[in-house]
Amino acid sequence: MQEKKFKRTLVTSALPYANGPVHIGHLAGVYVPADIYVRYLRLKGEEVLFIGGSDEHGVPVTIRARKEGITVQEVVDRYHYLIKQSFADFGISFDVYSRTTSKIHHKFAADFFRKLYDEGKFIEQTTAQFYDEETKEFLTDRYIRGECPRCHSLGAYGDQCEKCGATLSPEELINPYNAINGNPLVKKVTKHWYLPLNEHEGWLRKWILDEHQEWRPNVYGQCKSWLDGGLQPRAVTRDLDWGIPVPIEGAEGKVLYVWFDAPIGYISNTKELCDAEPEKYGPWQKWWQDEETRLVHFIGKDNIVFHCIVFPAMLKAHGDYILPDNVPSNEFLNLEGDKISTSRNWAIWLNEYLVDMPGKQDVLRYVLTANAPETKDNDFTWRDYQARNNNELVAIFGNFINRAMKLTEKYFEGKVPACGELTDYDRQTLDDFKDVKARVEALLDDFKFRDAQKEAMELARIGNKYLADTEPWKIAKTDMERVKTILNLSLQISANLAIVFEPFLPFSAEKLRKMLGMETFEWSQLGRTDLLAEGHQLGESVLLFEKLEDKDIQPQLDRLARIKEENEKVALAEAEKNWRPEPIKEIIPFDDFERLDIRTATVLDVKPVKKSDKLLEFTLDDGTGQPRTILSGIAQHYPDPQVLVGKQVLFVANFAPKVMKHIASNGMILSAVDFDGSLHVVTNEAKVKNGSKVC
Ligand code: MF3
Ligand code: ZN
Repeated sequence: MQEKKFKRTLVTSALPYANGPVHIGHLAGVYVPADIYVRYLRLKGEEVLFIGGSDEHGVPVTIRARKEGITVQEVVDRYHYLIKQSFADFGISFDVYSRTTSKIHHKFAADFFRKLYDEGKFIEQTTAQFYDEETKEFLTDRYIRGECPRCHSLGAYGDQCEKCGATLSPEELINPYNAINGNPLVKKVTKHWYLPLNEHEGWLRKWILDEHQEWRPNVYGQCKSWLDGGLQPRAVTRDLDWGIPVPIEGAEGKVLYVWFDAPIGYISNTKELCDAEPEKYGPWQKWWQDEETRLVHFIGKDNIVFHCIVFPAMLKAHGDYILPDNVPSNEFLNLEGDKISTSRNWAIWLNEYLVDMPGKQDVLRYVLTANAPETKDNDFTWRDYQARNNNELVAIFGNFINRAMKLTEKYFEGKVPACGELTDYDRQTLDDFKDVKARVEALLDDFKFRDAQKEAMELARIGNKYLADTEPWKIAKTDMERVKTILNLSLQISANLAIVFEPFLPFSAEKLRKMLGMETFEWSQLGRTDLLAEGHQLGESVLLFEKLEDKDIQPQLDRLARIKEENEKVALAEAEKNWRPEPIKEIIPFDDFERLDIRTATVLDVKPVKKSDKLLEFTLDDGTGQPRTILSGIAQHYPDPQVLVGKQVLFVANFAPKVMKHIASNGMILSAVDFDGSLHVVTNEAKVKNGSKVC
């Protein structure tokens, strides 16, 4: 159905902010899947363009500049080239990788804005916003902090309190301040232009909810909840001195909102490419304004609303553009169980990876696709990386190729032997592998890269099993004709592997292509068993993959452990700084206090409770002559609970007994909670009679 409607495909991948290097989360979420898809289409001989570039505006780059004490231009220059290099190193095969500070883009985005402005597609609104009088800047959500109105911890963000999890708006914060420099903030009125998304709701609902039910459930679901919540006008300008100046009079000191200009970067980058080589790519309008072009955006989940709602509304308001046909968005990739974070250095940076693991681009591509967060957040661990490398790439794919090559060298001087008569087992093997093409295709067409790669690997498995079962090295002494057939088939499977893995593991596929002495190949050849002619001379065989030992992985684990320790220290210092006593509870009559029976007791013994990592069992001398048992959930705070023996503590005596882990607990021992959540048993230095009342 789609095949008939579309003549060509334009693939975009989110423009990364040029405020730091790119990491494995970027690669897994956006660039590897986009690259697989594009390589696949190219192999099929389809007309396709792959657009990338750096997002160089917005607040994040300006903050980086301040932190590093350099100009914003220096920041974006540094990271644009670093990112561009990383992508090139990992074989992300953009047709163009440009940047939003380019002249072409500035003009293009300003013209786009101006057209919408002239046609009355925006509304103007003047509102009061938080303002720093010293730095003379307006601040938005993430850059405003203050006291949380709910839990009263300091340092809550304008959109969320990380302490108690409350969702906030900057207006709710008590004593709001500038997150960067701590300056107090005031309210100041300012004028901005808004895209009235509410006016677009009708067609957006129909277009997404009715006409694009095939979108991934995570994408569709997010759109639906946005649409069901009702769309509001969105400001498309900002008070900032970095960005594309708003091209209208009376808008001095204002720039286009980064999320307005960045997606237009997809278009201006296409224009840059097409203008440079019009014979090769045709006019840019062909890619953006022709219904026969299929537009596909690869993005991460935090970008969904911008690509499915805001950008389409911009394109629709403009009027000349096509809309995306699909927006395959991934969820997030975590690293060793924790959220990847640029600011906390909790990431594997692509440039650093290549220094530590030179030449292992494909291993990372493989592992990231095998673990792609397509339907839910997923975890990258170095142990899994090692296991997949050793058990899949080396033991199956690499092993098969190596044996097929080496045996052909040994018996036939590296020339493809003739295929003789096929046995039933041969036929069965061929049957198994003929389906692989259709299966991989169906999955790739459906953006299921993880399953598609699994199917491709299935072909290597089939080959590996075939050699293991037929054991040509054993029958070489008795039946050379049979060996010829086995190796011929094995080499044909190898050639198929080179093709099917090209989108996934381009570096290894290229090595394999050279080893097999294949000139070129295309997707349509997949499934064929005549790819290598009899007598064809193979190239030199090299190892496709190398085993990774524990010692190769250990430095990576050590690095992460160091970072984690560092981060914990920083977080603790921050928590201490932002700690405040909780607000006083409501006033109560003295009688209420009197009802509590608090007493002294001396700890006779204390031991951990079996099958519980929280509970400690205390035996107390409470003055009655009968030992009293109390369970207390403080085990994690007392690795050596014996230190409490002999101490006089305070406990509440008149709680009803409570049975936990088959032990009856009679009362509660009082502990103080420190800023970091640690618990400390309150002890009585004066040492009075056990059982004395506390008042
Ligand atoms: N820079 C944004 C991010 O990293 C993505 C921008 S995508 C584009 O989240 F559409 F705006 F280009
Ligand atoms: Zn809070």
